[in-house]
Amino acid sequence: MAGRIPPEFIDDLLARTDIVDLVGSRLQLRKAGKDYQARCPFHDEKTPSFTVSPDKQFYHCFGCGAHGSAIGFLMEYDRLPFREAVEELAQRAGVPVPDAGDAVPAGPDHGPLYALLERAATLYREQLRDVQRAGRAVEYLKSRGLTGEIAAAFDLGYAPPRHDFLMSTLGATAEQRERLMTVGLLAESDGRRYDRFRDRVMFPIRDRRGRVIGFGGRLLGDGKPKYLNSPETPLFRKGRELYGLFEAQKANRKLGSLLIVEGYLDVIALAQFGITNAVATLGTATTADHLQQLLRTVPELVFCFDGDRAGRSAAWKALETALPLVTGHQSIRFLFLPEGEDPDTLVRAQGAEGMHRLVDGAIPLSEFLFDHLTEQVDMTSIDGRARLGNLAKPLLDRMPVGLYRDLVANRIANLTGLTSTPTPKSRSTGRRGSVASQRPMRLSLVAQAIALLLDHPELVTRVVEQADDRWRRSSNPGIDVLAELLNMLSAAPGLTKAALLERWREHRHFAYLQRLSVDSFLRDIAEEDVGAELIGALGRLSEEAVKAEHSRRFNLRSTTDWSPEERARLEQEARVARRRGEDSAD
Ligand code: UTP
Ligand code: MN
Repeated sequence: MAGRIPPEFIDDLLARTDIVDLVGSRLQLRKAGKDYQARCPFHDEKTPSFTVSPDKQFYHCFGCGAHGSAIGFLMEYDRLPFREAVEELAQRAGVPVPDAGDAVPAGPDHGPLYALLERAATLYREQLRDVQRAGRAVEYLKSRGLTGEIAAAFDLGYAPPRHDFLMSTLGATAEQRERLMTVGLLAESDGRRYDRFRDRVMFPIRDRRGRVIGFGGRLLGDGKPKYLNSPETPLFRKGRELYGLFEAQKANRKLGSLLIVEGYLDVIALAQFGITNAVATLGTATTADHLQQLLRTVPELVFCFDGDRAGRSAAWKALETALPLVTGHQSIRFLFLPEGEDPDTLVRAQGAEGMHRLVDGAIPLSEFLFDHLTEQVDMTSIDGRARLGNLAKPLLDRMPVGLYRDLVANRIANLTGLTSTPTPKSRSTGRRGSVASQRPMRLSLVAQAIALLLDHPELVTRVVEQADDRWRRSSNPGIDVLAELLNMLSAAPGLTKAALLERWREHRHFAYLQRLSVDSFLRDIAEEDVGAELIGALGRLSEEAVKAEHSRRFNLRSTTDWSPEERARLEQEARVARRRGEDSAD
Protein backbone atom coordinates (compact mmCIF):
# COMPACT_ATOMS: atom_id res chain seq x y z
CA MET A 1 0.00 0.00 0.00
CA ALA A 2 2.85 2.36 0.72
CA GLY A 3 3.54 4.28 -2.45
CA ARG A 4 4.01 7.84 -3.46
CA ILE A 5 1.21 10.10 -2.33
CA PRO A 6 -0.36 12.11 -5.16
CA PRO A 7 0.41 15.84 -4.88
CA GLU A 8 -3.25 16.78 -5.35
CA PHE A 9 -4.01 14.81 -2.22
CA ILE A 10 -1.42 16.79 -0.27
CA ASP A 11 -2.96 20.05 -1.56
CA ASP A 12 -6.37 18.89 -0.47
CA LEU A 13 -5.15 17.62 2.88
CA LEU A 14 -3.47 20.92 3.67
CA ALA A 15 -6.61 22.76 2.62
CA ARG A 16 -8.61 20.68 5.09
CA THR A 17 -6.11 21.20 7.88
CA ASP A 18 -5.75 24.35 9.92
CA ILE A 19 -2.17 24.62 11.05
CA VAL A 20 -3.28 26.89 13.89
CA ASP A 21 -5.45 24.07 15.28
CA LEU A 22 -2.74 21.55 14.77
CA VAL A 23 0.02 23.54 16.42
CA GLY A 24 -2.46 24.74 19.03
CA SER A 25 -3.13 21.15 20.04
CA ARG A 26 0.51 20.85 21.00
CA LEU A 27 1.62 24.34 22.03
CA GLN A 28 0.02 27.22 23.85
CA LEU A 29 -0.63 29.75 21.07
CA ARG A 30 -1.42 33.40 21.61
CA LYS A 31 -2.94 35.66 18.99
CA ALA A 32 -0.61 38.40 17.79
CA GLY A 33 -2.05 40.52 14.99
CA LYS A 34 -3.25 38.19 12.30
CA ASP A 35 -0.78 35.50 13.33
CA TYR A 36 -0.31 33.35 16.40
CA GLN A 37 2.75 33.09 18.58
CA ALA A 38 4.28 30.70 21.04
CA ARG A 39 7.59 30.02 22.65
CA CYS A 40 9.49 27.99 20.12
CA PRO A 41 9.40 24.24 20.78
CA PHE A 42 12.57 23.76 18.75
CA HIS A 43 14.90 25.94 20.73
CA ASP A 44 15.20 27.40 24.17
CA GLU A 45 13.78 30.90 24.42
CA LYS A 46 12.11 33.17 26.92
CA THR A 47 10.07 35.39 24.64
CA PRO A 48 7.99 33.93 21.85
CA SER A 49 9.42 34.16 18.36
CA PHE A 50 7.64 31.12 16.98
CA THR A 51 4.92 32.36 14.64
CA VAL A 52 2.09 30.50 12.97
CA SER A 53 0.35 32.15 10.05
CA PRO A 54 -3.22 31.09 9.26
CA ASP A 55 -3.02 32.81 5.84
CA LYS A 56 0.11 31.07 4.74
CA GLN A 57 -0.62 27.89 6.75
CA PHE A 58 3.03 28.04 7.67
CA TYR A 59 5.08 28.31 10.84
CA HIS A 60 8.35 30.11 11.30
CA CYS A 61 10.60 30.81 14.26
CA PHE A 62 12.55 34.04 13.96
CA GLY A 63 14.86 32.83 16.68
CA CYS A 64 16.14 29.50 15.40
CA GLY A 65 14.82 29.59 11.85
CA ALA A 66 12.59 26.48 12.14
CA HIS A 67 9.83 26.60 9.57
CA GLY A 68 7.41 24.55 7.54
CA SER A 69 3.89 23.41 6.77
CA ALA A 70 1.52 21.39 8.95
CA ILE A 71 3.22 18.28 7.57
CA GLY A 72 6.64 19.69 8.34
CA PHE A 73 5.50 20.55 11.85
CA LEU A 74 4.42 16.99 12.57
CA MET A 75 7.64 15.66 11.09
CA GLU A 76 9.71 17.92 13.32
CA TYR A 77 7.62 18.00 16.45
CA ASP A 78 6.25 14.47 16.60
CA ARG A 79 9.34 13.24 14.80
CA LEU A 80 7.27 11.38 12.24
CA PRO A 81 8.50 10.32 8.83
CA PHE A 82 6.80 12.14 5.95
CA ARG A 83 4.28 9.45 5.22
CA GLU A 84 3.23 9.06 8.82
CA ALA A 85 2.83 12.81 9.19
CA VAL A 86 0.53 12.75 6.17
CA GLU A 87 -1.38 9.81 7.64
CA GLU A 88 -1.80 11.60 10.93
CA LEU A 89 -3.21 14.68 9.21
CA ALA A 90 -5.46 12.51 7.06
CA GLN A 91 -6.78 10.84 10.16
CA ARG A 92 -7.51 14.22 11.75
CA ALA A 93 -9.27 15.31 8.59
CA GLY A 94 -11.15 12.02 8.32
CA VAL A 95 -9.92 11.16 4.85
CA PRO A 96 -8.12 8.00 3.70
CA VAL A 97 -4.64 8.31 2.20
CA PRO A 98 -4.69 7.22 -1.44
CA ASP A 99 -1.83 5.62 -3.31
CA ALA A 100 -0.31 6.51 -6.61
CA GLY A 101 -0.25 3.44 -8.83
CA ASP A 102 3.43 3.74 -9.63
CA ALA A 103 4.32 2.92 -6.09
CA VAL A 104 7.84 3.50 -4.87
CA PRO A 105 7.97 1.19 -1.86
CA ALA A 106 8.38 3.19 1.33
CA GLY A 107 9.92 0.70 3.73
CA PRO A 108 8.34 -2.50 4.96
CA ASP A 109 4.57 -2.46 4.94
CA HIS A 110 3.34 -3.10 8.46
CA GLY A 111 -0.34 -2.81 7.51
CA PRO A 112 -1.09 -6.54 7.89
CA LEU A 113 0.68 -6.62 11.27
CA TYR A 114 -1.42 -3.76 12.64
CA ALA A 115 -4.54 -5.41 11.28
CA LEU A 116 -3.63 -8.67 12.96
CA LEU A 117 -3.09 -7.02 16.35
CA GLU A 118 -6.40 -5.22 16.03
CA ARG A 119 -8.14 -8.53 15.23
CA ALA A 120 -6.51 -10.15 18.26
CA ALA A 121 -7.69 -7.28 20.49
CA THR A 122 -11.21 -7.75 19.18
CA LEU A 123 -11.12 -11.49 19.81
CA TYR A 124 -9.87 -11.01 23.36
CA ARG A 125 -12.57 -8.43 23.97
CA GLU A 126 -15.24 -10.79 22.71
CA GLN A 127 -13.94 -13.51 25.01
CA LEU A 128 -14.40 -11.23 27.99
CA ARG A 129 -18.07 -10.80 27.06
CA ASP A 130 -18.60 -14.53 26.96
CA VAL A 131 -20.01 -14.99 30.46
CA GLN A 132 -19.56 -18.77 30.46
CA ARG A 133 -15.95 -18.76 29.46
CA ALA A 134 -14.80 -15.52 31.03
CA GLY A 135 -16.71 -15.62 34.31
CA ARG A 136 -13.50 -15.76 36.34
CA ALA A 137 -11.94 -12.88 34.47
CA VAL A 138 -15.01 -10.71 34.93
CA GLU A 139 -15.10 -11.59 38.62
CA TYR A 140 -11.44 -10.69 38.92
CA LEU A 141 -11.95 -7.27 37.30
CA LYS A 142 -14.94 -6.62 39.54
CA SER A 143 -12.89 -7.58 42.57
CA ARG A 144 -10.42 -4.92 41.46
CA GLY A 145 -13.24 -2.40 41.42
CA LEU A 146 -13.43 -1.93 37.65
CA THR A 147 -16.73 -1.06 36.02
CA GLY A 148 -17.81 -2.53 32.70
CA GLU A 149 -17.70 0.98 31.33
CA ILE A 150 -14.06 1.60 32.13
CA ALA A 151 -13.11 -1.89 30.91
CA ALA A 152 -14.76 -1.00 27.61
CA ALA A 153 -13.06 2.40 27.45
CA PHE A 154 -9.66 0.68 27.61
CA ASP A 155 -10.77 -2.23 25.44
CA LEU A 156 -9.88 -4.81 28.05
CA GLY A 157 -10.13 -8.41 27.00
CA TYR A 158 -9.47 -11.94 28.10
CA ALA A 159 -7.13 -14.54 26.68
CA PRO A 160 -8.63 -17.98 27.31
CA PRO A 161 -6.46 -20.73 28.84
CA ARG A 162 -6.00 -22.59 25.52
CA HIS A 163 -2.61 -22.90 23.86
CA ASP A 164 -4.05 -22.48 20.41
CA PHE A 165 -6.76 -19.83 20.71
CA LEU A 166 -5.16 -17.29 18.37
CA MET A 167 -3.43 -19.99 16.41
CA SER A 168 -6.78 -21.52 15.52
CA THR A 169 -8.65 -18.27 14.92
CA LEU A 170 -6.00 -16.12 13.20
CA GLY A 171 -3.33 -18.58 12.14
CA ALA A 172 -5.04 -20.19 9.16
CA THR A 173 -2.09 -19.81 6.81
CA ALA A 174 1.62 -20.16 7.29
CA GLU A 175 1.96 -16.47 6.43
CA GLN A 176 -0.50 -15.51 9.16
CA ARG A 177 1.27 -17.71 11.71
CA GLU A 178 4.52 -16.05 10.76
CA ARG A 179 2.94 -12.66 11.36
CA LEU A 180 1.55 -13.79 14.71
CA MET A 181 5.12 -14.66 15.67
CA THR A 182 6.42 -11.32 14.42
CA VAL A 183 4.00 -9.31 16.55
CA GLY A 184 4.75 -11.46 19.60
CA LEU A 185 1.35 -13.10 19.99
CA LEU A 186 2.82 -16.56 19.59
CA ALA A 187 5.77 -17.91 21.50
CA GLU A 188 7.94 -20.81 20.50
CA SER A 189 9.75 -23.52 22.41
CA ASP A 190 11.27 -26.77 21.18
CA GLY A 191 10.12 -25.86 17.69
CA ARG A 192 6.48 -25.67 18.78
CA ARG A 193 4.46 -22.51 18.56
CA TYR A 194 1.67 -21.63 20.94
CA ASP A 195 -0.30 -18.64 22.23
CA ARG A 196 1.89 -16.44 24.39
CA PHE A 197 -1.01 -15.07 26.43
CA ARG A 198 -3.20 -17.62 28.21
CA ASP A 199 -5.76 -17.16 30.94
CA ARG A 200 -4.93 -13.51 31.42
CA VAL A 201 -6.79 -10.20 31.44
CA MET A 202 -5.56 -8.47 28.32
CA PHE A 203 -4.62 -4.78 28.08
CA PRO A 204 -4.16 -3.66 24.47
CA ILE A 205 -1.34 -1.13 24.14
CA ARG A 206 -1.91 1.50 21.49
CA ASP A 207 0.47 3.91 19.84
CA ARG A 208 -0.24 7.65 19.72
CA ARG A 209 -2.40 7.14 16.69
CA GLY A 210 -4.53 4.51 18.35
CA ARG A 211 -3.16 1.45 16.61
CA VAL A 212 -2.73 -1.66 18.74
CA ILE A 213 0.99 -2.43 18.88
CA GLY A 214 1.20 -4.89 21.74
CA PHE A 215 -0.46 -6.26 24.86
CA GLY A 216 -0.01 -6.58 28.57
CA GLY A 217 -1.67 -9.56 30.22
CA ARG A 218 -2.34 -10.00 33.94
CA LEU A 219 -2.93 -13.21 35.80
CA LEU A 220 -6.34 -13.51 37.42
CA GLY A 221 -4.77 -14.01 40.80
CA ASP A 222 -1.38 -14.42 42.36
CA GLY A 223 1.42 -16.15 40.54
CA LYS A 224 4.36 -15.39 38.36
CA PRO A 225 4.87 -13.59 36.23
CA LYS A 226 2.02 -11.36 37.39
CA TYR A 227 2.19 -9.39 34.15
CA LEU A 228 3.32 -10.64 30.80
CA ASN A 229 4.00 -8.09 28.08
CA SER A 230 4.48 -8.41 24.34
CA PRO A 231 8.17 -8.71 23.53
CA GLU A 232 9.93 -6.01 21.51
CA THR A 233 8.68 -6.26 17.94
CA PRO A 234 9.03 -4.09 14.84
CA LEU A 235 5.91 -2.26 16.03
CA PHE A 236 6.43 -2.29 19.78
CA ARG A 237 9.35 -0.55 21.45
CA LYS A 238 8.95 -0.40 25.19
CA GLY A 239 11.43 2.42 25.57
CA ARG A 240 9.32 4.58 23.34
CA GLU A 241 5.71 3.71 24.00
CA LEU A 242 3.49 4.74 26.86
CA TYR A 243 0.39 2.98 28.00
CA GLY A 244 -2.65 5.25 28.04
CA LEU A 245 -1.30 8.16 26.00
CA PHE A 246 -3.72 7.59 23.16
CA GLU A 247 -6.63 7.19 25.58
CA ALA A 248 -5.59 10.34 27.47
CA GLN A 249 -5.44 12.36 24.27
CA LYS A 250 -8.79 10.97 23.22
CA ALA A 251 -10.40 11.89 26.53
CA ASN A 252 -8.97 15.42 26.59
CA ARG A 253 -9.15 17.77 23.68
CA LYS A 254 -6.28 19.68 25.16
CA LEU A 255 -3.98 18.08 27.66
CA GLY A 256 -2.40 20.46 30.15
CA SER A 257 -0.44 17.93 32.13
CA LEU A 258 0.27 14.23 32.33
CA LEU A 259 0.72 11.97 35.31
CA ILE A 260 3.29 9.24 34.87
CA VAL A 261 2.42 6.17 36.91
CA GLU A 262 3.76 2.65 37.03
CA GLY A 263 1.01 0.24 36.14
CA TYR A 264 -1.77 -0.44 33.65
CA LEU A 265 -4.28 -0.63 36.46
CA ASP A 266 -3.13 2.68 37.89
CA VAL A 267 -3.92 4.39 34.60
CA ILE A 268 -7.30 2.72 34.39
CA ALA A 269 -8.33 3.27 38.02
CA LEU A 270 -7.45 6.96 37.78
CA ALA A 271 -9.49 7.27 34.57
CA GLN A 272 -12.40 5.58 36.28
CA PHE A 273 -12.31 8.39 38.83
CA GLY A 274 -12.16 11.06 36.17
CA ILE A 275 -8.40 11.56 36.20
CA THR A 276 -7.96 10.84 32.52
CA ASN A 277 -4.44 12.17 32.05
CA ALA A 278 -2.33 9.32 33.37
CA VAL A 279 0.12 7.25 31.36
CA ALA A 280 2.35 4.34 32.36
CA THR A 281 5.68 3.12 31.12
CA LEU A 282 5.65 -0.53 30.16
CA GLY A 283 7.50 -2.15 32.99
CA THR A 284 10.65 -0.17 32.14
CA ALA A 285 12.25 2.92 33.57
CA THR A 286 11.33 6.22 31.95
CA THR A 287 13.62 6.79 28.97
CA ALA A 288 14.80 10.05 27.44
CA ASP A 289 12.67 9.17 24.45
CA HIS A 290 9.57 8.90 26.64
CA LEU A 291 10.32 12.23 28.23
CA GLN A 292 10.94 14.01 24.96
CA GLN A 293 7.60 12.79 23.64
CA LEU A 294 5.78 13.75 26.81
CA LEU A 295 7.35 17.20 27.00
CA ARG A 296 6.36 17.82 23.43
CA THR A 297 2.81 16.84 24.29
CA VAL A 298 2.22 18.80 27.50
CA PRO A 299 3.88 21.61 29.43
CA GLU A 300 3.61 19.81 32.75
CA LEU A 301 4.63 16.33 33.90
CA VAL A 302 4.05 14.82 37.30
CA PHE A 303 5.84 11.58 38.12
CA CYS A 304 4.11 9.35 40.65
CA PHE A 305 6.33 7.06 42.63
CA ASP A 306 6.05 4.89 45.69
CA GLY A 307 7.28 6.63 48.79
CA ASP A 308 9.50 3.66 49.65
CA ARG A 309 13.20 3.33 48.99
CA ALA A 310 12.72 1.62 45.62
CA GLY A 311 10.30 4.36 44.57
CA ARG A 312 12.70 7.12 45.52
CA SER A 313 15.57 5.53 43.68
CA ALA A 314 13.39 5.07 40.60
CA ALA A 315 12.43 8.75 40.90
CA TRP A 316 16.07 9.78 41.07
CA LYS A 317 16.77 7.80 37.92
CA ALA A 318 13.89 9.60 36.22
CA LEU A 319 15.34 12.93 37.37
CA GLU A 320 18.72 12.07 35.92
CA THR A 321 17.11 11.15 32.63
CA ALA A 322 15.14 14.39 32.64
CA LEU A 323 18.09 16.70 33.41
CA PRO A 324 19.26 17.23 29.82
CA LEU A 325 15.72 18.22 28.91
CA VAL A 326 14.85 20.71 31.62
CA THR A 327 14.73 24.23 30.31
CA GLY A 328 12.37 25.74 32.84
CA HIS A 329 9.69 26.17 30.19
CA GLN A 330 8.02 23.03 31.28
CA SER A 331 7.29 21.89 34.74
CA ILE A 332 8.42 18.48 35.95
CA ARG A 333 7.32 17.51 39.41
CA PHE A 334 7.56 14.47 41.63
CA LEU A 335 4.85 12.97 43.76
CA PHE A 336 5.70 10.40 46.41
CA LEU A 337 2.79 8.28 47.49
CA PRO A 338 2.35 7.08 51.06
CA GLU A 339 4.12 3.76 51.52
CA GLY A 340 2.17 0.73 50.46
CA GLU A 341 -0.11 2.74 48.18
CA ASP A 342 -0.19 3.02 44.44
CA PRO A 343 -2.43 5.37 42.46
CA ASP A 344 -4.95 2.56 42.04
CA THR A 345 -5.38 1.88 45.76
CA LEU A 346 -5.11 5.54 46.61
CA VAL A 347 -7.78 6.84 44.30
CA ARG A 348 -10.12 4.03 45.36
CA ALA A 349 -9.58 4.86 49.04
CA GLN A 350 -9.52 8.66 48.84
CA GLY A 351 -11.26 9.46 45.60
CA ALA A 352 -10.22 11.95 42.94
CA GLU A 353 -10.07 14.64 45.63
CA GLY A 354 -7.35 12.82 47.52
CA MET A 355 -5.36 12.26 44.37
CA HIS A 356 -5.69 15.89 43.30
CA ARG A 357 -4.45 17.03 46.70
CA LEU A 358 -1.38 14.87 46.35
CA VAL A 359 -0.73 16.07 42.82
CA ASP A 360 -1.00 19.66 43.98
CA GLY A 361 1.64 18.95 46.59
CA ALA A 362 4.07 17.33 44.15
CA ILE A 363 7.53 18.87 44.47
CA PRO A 364 9.34 20.52 41.56
CA LEU A 365 12.31 18.74 40.06
CA SER A 366 14.73 21.28 41.47
CA GLU A 367 13.29 20.76 44.97
CA PHE A 368 13.72 17.01 44.69
CA LEU A 369 17.25 17.53 43.46
CA PHE A 370 18.18 19.76 46.42
CA ASP A 371 16.49 17.41 48.91
CA HIS A 372 18.21 14.38 47.52
CA LEU A 373 21.64 16.04 47.63
CA THR A 374 21.34 17.64 51.04
CA GLU A 375 20.19 14.32 52.50
CA GLN A 376 23.51 12.81 51.58
CA VAL A 377 25.77 15.33 53.27
CA ASP A 378 26.14 17.03 56.60
CA MET A 379 25.01 20.55 55.79
CA THR A 380 26.30 21.90 59.11
CA SER A 381 29.92 21.26 58.21
CA ILE A 382 32.00 23.05 55.62
CA ASP A 383 33.21 19.70 54.30
CA GLY A 384 29.63 18.56 53.87
CA ARG A 385 28.66 21.69 51.99
CA ALA A 386 31.71 21.41 49.77
CA ARG A 387 30.69 17.85 49.05
CA LEU A 388 27.26 19.10 48.09
CA GLY A 389 28.89 21.37 45.55
CA ASN A 390 30.83 18.44 44.16
CA LEU A 391 27.75 16.27 43.95
CA ALA A 392 25.83 19.00 42.19
CA LYS A 393 28.48 19.81 39.62
CA PRO A 394 28.03 16.79 37.30
CA LEU A 395 24.26 17.19 37.52
CA LEU A 396 24.41 20.85 36.57
CA ASP A 397 26.69 19.94 33.70
CA ARG A 398 24.00 17.73 32.26
CA MET A 399 21.40 20.48 32.18
CA PRO A 400 20.97 22.62 29.08
CA VAL A 401 22.65 25.98 29.34
CA GLY A 402 20.10 28.62 30.19
CA LEU A 403 18.26 30.58 32.80
CA TYR A 404 16.87 27.54 34.58
CA ARG A 405 20.27 25.99 35.02
CA ASP A 406 21.62 29.32 36.28
CA LEU A 407 18.85 29.45 38.88
CA VAL A 408 19.58 25.95 40.08
CA ALA A 409 23.32 26.74 40.18
CA ASN A 410 22.62 29.87 42.24
CA ARG A 411 20.51 27.95 44.65
CA ILE A 412 23.28 25.38 45.10
CA ALA A 413 25.70 28.22 45.64
CA ASN A 414 23.42 29.64 48.33
CA LEU A 415 23.11 26.27 50.01
CA THR A 416 26.83 25.68 50.04
CA GLY A 417 27.65 29.27 50.88
CA LEU A 418 30.26 29.10 48.13
CA THR A 419 30.11 31.31 45.11
CA SER A 420 28.88 29.48 42.10
CA THR A 421 31.16 28.56 39.28
CA PRO A 422 29.81 30.81 36.58
CA THR A 423 28.09 28.80 33.90
CA PRO A 424 28.73 29.84 30.33
CA LYS A 425 26.62 32.75 29.19
CA SER A 426 23.12 31.73 28.20
CA ARG A 427 22.63 31.14 24.56
CA SER A 428 20.19 29.41 22.34
CA THR A 429 20.43 25.64 22.62
CA GLY A 430 18.49 25.02 19.44
CA ARG A 431 19.61 22.33 17.05
CA ARG A 432 20.00 24.85 14.31
CA GLY A 433 22.31 27.75 14.95
CA SER A 434 20.49 31.00 15.46
CA VAL A 435 19.60 32.52 12.13
CA ALA A 436 20.32 35.96 13.48
CA SER A 437 23.92 34.97 14.09
CA GLN A 438 24.43 33.77 10.57
CA ARG A 439 25.78 36.35 8.20
CA PRO A 440 22.87 37.52 6.07
CA MET A 441 23.28 36.20 2.60
CA ARG A 442 22.79 38.59 -0.27
CA LEU A 443 20.14 37.13 -2.49
CA SER A 444 20.36 37.14 -6.25
CA LEU A 445 17.47 38.69 -8.15
CA VAL A 446 16.17 35.24 -9.05
CA ALA A 447 16.34 34.16 -5.43
CA GLN A 448 14.53 37.32 -4.35
CA ALA A 449 11.77 36.72 -6.85
CA ILE A 450 11.46 33.09 -5.76
CA ALA A 451 11.38 34.07 -2.09
CA LEU A 452 8.67 36.67 -2.70
CA LEU A 453 6.57 34.27 -4.70
CA LEU A 454 6.92 31.44 -2.20
CA ASP A 455 5.99 33.71 0.65
CA HIS A 456 3.13 35.31 -1.30
CA PRO A 457 1.78 32.81 -3.82
CA GLU A 458 -1.28 34.99 -4.32
CA LEU A 459 0.95 37.41 -6.25
CA VAL A 460 0.77 35.09 -9.23
CA THR A 461 -2.28 36.92 -10.57
CA ARG A 462 -0.44 40.21 -10.45
CA VAL A 463 2.56 38.73 -12.18
CA VAL A 464 0.41 37.31 -14.94
CA GLU A 465 -1.29 40.68 -15.40
CA GLN A 466 1.64 43.03 -15.05
CA ALA A 467 5.00 41.44 -15.71
CA ASP A 468 6.32 40.79 -19.16
CA ASP A 469 7.81 37.40 -19.83
CA ARG A 470 11.25 38.28 -21.09
CA TRP A 471 12.91 37.19 -17.82
CA ARG A 472 12.17 33.63 -18.94
CA ARG A 473 14.92 34.05 -21.53
CA SER A 474 17.47 34.65 -18.78
CA SER A 475 20.05 31.99 -18.15
CA ASN A 476 20.62 32.95 -14.53
CA PRO A 477 20.80 30.00 -12.19
CA GLY A 478 17.43 29.24 -10.66
CA ILE A 479 15.42 30.77 -13.46
CA ASP A 480 13.99 27.33 -14.28
CA VAL A 481 12.72 27.03 -10.72
CA LEU A 482 11.14 30.47 -10.87
CA ALA A 483 9.47 29.61 -14.16
CA GLU A 484 8.17 26.32 -12.83
CA LEU A 485 6.87 28.02 -9.69
CA LEU A 486 4.90 30.49 -11.78
CA ASN A 487 3.57 27.75 -14.04
CA MET A 488 2.51 25.75 -11.03
CA LEU A 489 0.74 28.72 -9.48
CA SER A 490 -0.96 29.73 -12.72
CA ALA A 491 -2.41 26.23 -12.87
CA ALA A 492 -3.42 26.24 -9.20
CA PRO A 493 -3.74 29.86 -8.08
CA GLY A 494 -5.32 29.09 -4.68
CA LEU A 495 -2.32 27.29 -3.17
CA THR A 496 -1.19 28.53 0.21
CA LYS A 497 2.48 29.00 0.92
CA ALA A 498 2.50 25.69 2.78
CA ALA A 499 0.79 23.76 0.00
CA LEU A 500 3.02 25.33 -2.62
CA LEU A 501 6.16 24.34 -0.74
CA GLU A 502 4.88 20.80 -0.13
CA ARG A 503 4.80 20.38 -3.91
CA TRP A 504 8.56 20.83 -3.88
CA ARG A 505 9.33 18.37 -1.10
CA GLU A 506 10.88 15.87 -3.53
CA HIS A 507 12.91 18.53 -5.33
CA ARG A 508 16.65 18.48 -4.71
CA HIS A 509 16.50 22.14 -3.64
CA PHE A 510 13.52 21.71 -1.29
CA ALA A 511 15.44 22.68 1.85
CA TYR A 512 16.89 25.74 0.13
CA LEU A 513 13.50 26.81 -1.19
CA GLN A 514 11.95 26.50 2.25
CA ARG A 515 14.77 28.58 3.66
CA LEU A 516 14.34 31.20 0.96
CA SER A 517 10.66 31.45 1.79
CA VAL A 518 11.52 32.77 5.25
CA ASP A 519 14.63 34.75 4.29
CA SER A 520 15.21 37.79 6.44
CA PHE A 521 15.14 39.95 3.32
CA LEU A 522 11.37 39.39 3.29
CA ARG A 523 11.02 40.95 6.69
CA ASP A 524 12.22 44.31 5.46
CA ILE A 525 9.44 44.58 2.90
CA ALA A 526 6.10 46.00 3.99
CA GLU A 527 3.09 43.86 3.22
CA GLU A 528 1.69 46.39 0.74
CA ASP A 529 4.97 46.57 -1.17
CA VAL A 530 5.57 42.89 -1.85
CA GLY A 531 3.72 42.96 -5.18
CA ALA A 532 5.69 45.92 -6.50
CA GLU A 533 8.87 44.35 -5.24
CA LEU A 534 8.24 41.13 -7.15
CA ILE A 535 7.22 42.89 -10.36
CA GLY A 536 10.34 45.05 -9.96
CA ALA A 537 12.60 42.04 -9.55
CA LEU A 538 11.11 40.35 -12.60
CA GLY A 539 11.50 43.59 -14.54
CA ARG A 540 15.16 43.84 -13.68
CA LEU A 541 15.65 40.20 -14.62
CA SER A 542 14.03 40.91 -17.95
CA GLU A 543 16.39 43.80 -18.55
CA GLU A 544 19.38 41.70 -17.66
CA ALA A 545 18.18 38.95 -19.93
CA VAL A 546 17.72 41.36 -22.80
CA LYS A 547 21.10 42.96 -22.24
CA ALA A 548 22.78 39.59 -22.13
CA GLU A 549 21.03 38.53 -25.27
CA HIS A 550 21.94 41.77 -26.91
CA SER A 551 25.62 41.49 -26.25
CA ARG A 552 25.60 37.85 -27.24
CA ARG A 553 24.03 38.72 -30.52
CA PHE A 554 26.25 41.76 -30.96
CA ASN A 555 29.32 39.58 -30.69
CA LEU A 556 27.92 37.27 -33.24
CA ARG A 557 26.86 40.02 -35.60
CA SER A 558 29.69 39.45 -38.06
CA THR A 559 28.61 35.92 -38.67
CA THR A 560 24.89 36.19 -38.30
CA ASP A 561 22.41 38.06 -40.30
CA TRP A 562 19.62 39.65 -38.35
CA SER A 563 16.21 39.78 -39.80
CA PRO A 564 14.74 43.29 -39.85
CA GLU A 565 12.20 42.22 -37.24
CA GLU A 566 14.91 40.92 -34.97
CA ARG A 567 16.93 44.07 -35.34
CA ALA A 568 13.92 46.24 -34.56
CA ARG A 569 13.15 44.25 -31.45
CA LEU A 570 16.74 44.38 -30.21
CA GLU A 571 16.92 48.12 -30.70
CA GLN A 572 13.59 48.65 -29.06
CA GLU A 573 14.61 46.56 -26.08
CA ALA A 574 17.96 48.26 -25.78
CA ARG A 575 16.23 51.66 -25.73
CA VAL A 576 13.86 50.52 -22.99
CA ALA A 577 16.71 49.08 -21.03
CA ARG A 578 18.69 52.32 -21.32
CA ARG A 579 15.73 54.41 -20.29
CA ARG A 580 15.06 52.18 -17.25
CA GLY A 581 18.74 52.37 -16.38
CA GLU A 582 18.53 56.15 -16.41
CA ASP A 583 15.32 56.10 -14.38
CA SER A 584 16.76 53.94 -11.70
CA ALA A 585 19.93 55.99 -11.60
CA ASP A 586 17.87 59.03 -10.53
P1 UTP B 1 3.32 -3.59 39.93
O1 UTP B 1 3.92 -4.88 40.38
O2 UTP B 1 3.56 -2.35 40.70
O3 UTP B 1 1.83 -3.94 39.85
O4 UTP B 1 3.71 -3.38 38.41
P2 UTP B 1 0.54 -3.07 39.82
O5 UTP B 1 0.47 -2.17 38.68
O6 UTP B 1 0.26 -2.51 41.16
O7 UTP B 1 -0.40 -4.25 39.46
P3 UTP B 1 -1.55 -4.84 40.27
O8 UTP B 1 -2.20 -3.68 40.94
O9 UTP B 1 -0.97 -5.83 41.24
O10 UTP B 1 -2.36 -5.48 39.22
C1 UTP B 1 3.64 -2.18 37.76
C2 UTP B 1 3.86 -2.41 36.29
O11 UTP B 1 5.07 -3.09 36.08
C3 UTP B 1 4.96 -3.99 35.02
C4 UTP B 1 3.57 -3.82 34.48
O12 UTP B 1 3.61 -2.88 33.42
C5 UTP B 1 2.80 -3.29 35.65
O13 UTP B 1 1.65 -2.57 35.27
N1 UTP B 1 5.15 -5.41 35.49
C6 UTP B 1 4.92 -5.76 36.76
C7 UTP B 1 5.55 -6.33 34.56
O14 UTP B 1 5.77 -6.02 33.39
N2 UTP B 1 5.69 -7.64 34.95
C8 UTP B 1 5.43 -8.03 36.22
O15 UTP B 1 5.54 -9.25 36.52
C9 UTP B 1 5.06 -7.06 37.15
MN1 MN C 1 -1.45 -2.00 41.92
